[in-house]
Formats: sequence, structure tokens, C-alpha cells
Amino acid sequence: MQIPFNHQFKDKVIVITGAGGVLCGFLSKQLARTGAKIALLDINLEMANHFAEEITQSGGIAKSYQTNVLELNSIQATNEQIKKDFGPCDILINGAGGNNPNATTDNEFHEFELPDNTKSFFDLDKSGVEFVFNLNYLGTLLPTQVFAKEMVGRKGSCIVNISSMNAFTPLTKIPAYSGAKAAISNFTQWLAVHFSHVGIRCNAIAPGFLVSNQNRALLFNTDGSPTARAHKILTNTPMGRFGEAEELVGGILFLIDERYSSFVNGVVLPIDGGFSAYSGV
Ligand SMILES: NC(=O)c1ccc[n+]([C@@H]2O[C@H](COP(=O)([O-])OP(=O)(O)OC[C@H]3O[C@@H](n4cnc5c(N)ncnc54)[C@H](O)[C@@H]3O)[C@@H](O)[C@H]2O)c1
Repeated sequence: MQIPFNHQFKDKVIVITGAGGVLCGFLSKQLARTGAKIALLDINLEMANHFAEEITQSGGIAKSYQTNVLELNSIQATNEQIKKDFGPCDILINGAGGNNPNATTDNEFHEFELPDNTKSFFDLDKSGVEFVFNLNYLGTLLPTQVFAKEMVGRKGSCIVNISSMNAFTPLTKIPAYSGAKAAISNFTQWLAVHFSHVGIRCNAIAPGFLVSNQNRALLFNTDGSPTARAHKILTNTPMGRFGEAEELVGGILFLIDERYSSFVNGVVLPIDGGFSAYSGV
């Protein structure tokens, strides 16, 4: 992918959490091409390292840091190391997040009769729900507490959170993930207001449905045809297709580059092929 217009972040420090993951690993590689120093944070050091090495091998500047976004001590230790390696954080992308099977129902609708062994709403596990709320909400709030402290009063600093389609309207089966992402959109607005006097902008992207290695099996049958859930998604996406990870990059570049977005603060930008605009009728 070629970055489409001239974004120069030379000497800027971009901290990305969840950078060992599918989307933020890809994003890290793209943002490295702007000349920024990329700090890749993930609980899974091996994966973060994999992307950091790809970046350095192609001439970029990157380093991986094993960090648990749910542990303040871990984030603070990483912050100290990043300051030594690169300097203080200019741009924070809160990418760590996700769902958990223990917080997911088997059925879209509750019915009077359900097959035996159906995991219904009544069977959802409290610890699964807590896991999802903690990872998505606290896992965004705690890194923001640590890294935004470095940004106060420093020109061009900003935060980008990752919300989701289900923040606008909940998706069936995933009440915890939908609620946690709604909380992320709300928190994005809260931060935008809270930091508006000290020069830190805060926005979010809300990706639509992207195909990744993780969800490919859920979306496609072995013969390549869409599964029933994928068919529903495509029917409700006016552009009639899934998105690609690279289609998130332009939105992120726009939000972090103050030459283009210096007055954009507190927005949640859908990148969804029109899914959130469509009532289905
Ligand atoms: N993939 C999609 O279609 C999609 C759509 C909308 C939103 N999102 C959001 O985008 C973000 C990235 O999604 P993805 O698909 O790349 O997910 P992913 O599972 O590939 O990546 C998430 C990363 O977070 C890391 N992580 C988990 N717990 C952590 C912790 N406690 N501390 C530090 N790191 C931790 C994981 O190790 C993983 O590398 C998530 O917030 C997700 O909710 C994804």
C-alpha cells in the first residue's frame, strides 16, 4: 500500500497498544513509513516483535515492548523505557481490545424453545463479561492516564481510540463487547472535552467489518461462499463487501495529522462501507 499523501511525522513518537494484533500490527507498519518512531506495545511480545522487526528491516524506526494494558505498573515501566529509547509519547493509539467467547451467546434471539446446550444470555459468565469490559475500557483508560501525561502542552499531540460498529447499534450475541465499545466512543468524547485546554485532541475510528485471519473461518465456508452471518453483514453493508485493513489507514492519518484535523476533536469516524448509515430498508 502506498500512503496517499505527504504525512511527515519524523521524530514524533507514536505509541500503539495491541500492536502485535492483526489491525494494529498492520497499522504500525504503515505509520512507520511516515518517519515516526513506533513503539509497539502488546502483552504478546513475540507478535509485537515480529512487526517491529519487519519495520526496522525495511528502514523504519520501531521497538516492541511487552506491556499489559490492564496493569498500571506495566504501562508505567514501558513509558519510562520508551522515553529512554525514543522520547515522550506524541501520539497514542489505543488498539488493544477484543471480545471473549464467555461473553457471547449462541443465539441471536431468545426463544421459548431452544436446542439443548444453547449458551443463552442467562448462561453468560460474569468473568467473561468483566474480561471484555476491562480489556476494552480499562485497557484504553489506563494507557491514556500514563501517556497523555507526557502530551500535556506538547503541540500536535493526540489520541486515537478504536471503537466499533456495535457502539452505534449493538450486534446480536455480543452484549459485553457492544457495551464496552459504546463506552469507548463515550470516553473518546469525554477525553476530547477534558483535554481541550491543554492541547491534546482525542478521536476514534469505528471500523466496520474487515476480513482477517482470525474471523475468516466465521465469515466464509470452505467453498469460499459467505456464512449466514457474513451474508447478513454484506446485505447490511451498502457497499456490499468487507473492508480491508489498509482502508483504516487514511482515516487514522487524517485524525493524527494536525495539518488536516487540528479542529477535529471528539469524533468517532465510521470506516464501514455505509453499514452504520443503513437502516436495512
Ligand atoms: N478486526 C475487526 O474487524 C475489528 C472491527 C472493529 C474494531 N476492532 C478493534 O480493533 C482493535 C484491534 O483488533 P484486531 O482485530 O487487530 O484484534 P487482535 O486480537 O488481532 O489484536 C489485539 C491485540 O491486543 C493484544 N492484547 C490483548 N490483551 C492485552 C493486554 N491486556 N495488554 C496488551 N495487549 C493485549 C493481543 O495480544 C493482540 O495482539 C481492537 O480494539 C478491536 O476491538 C476490530
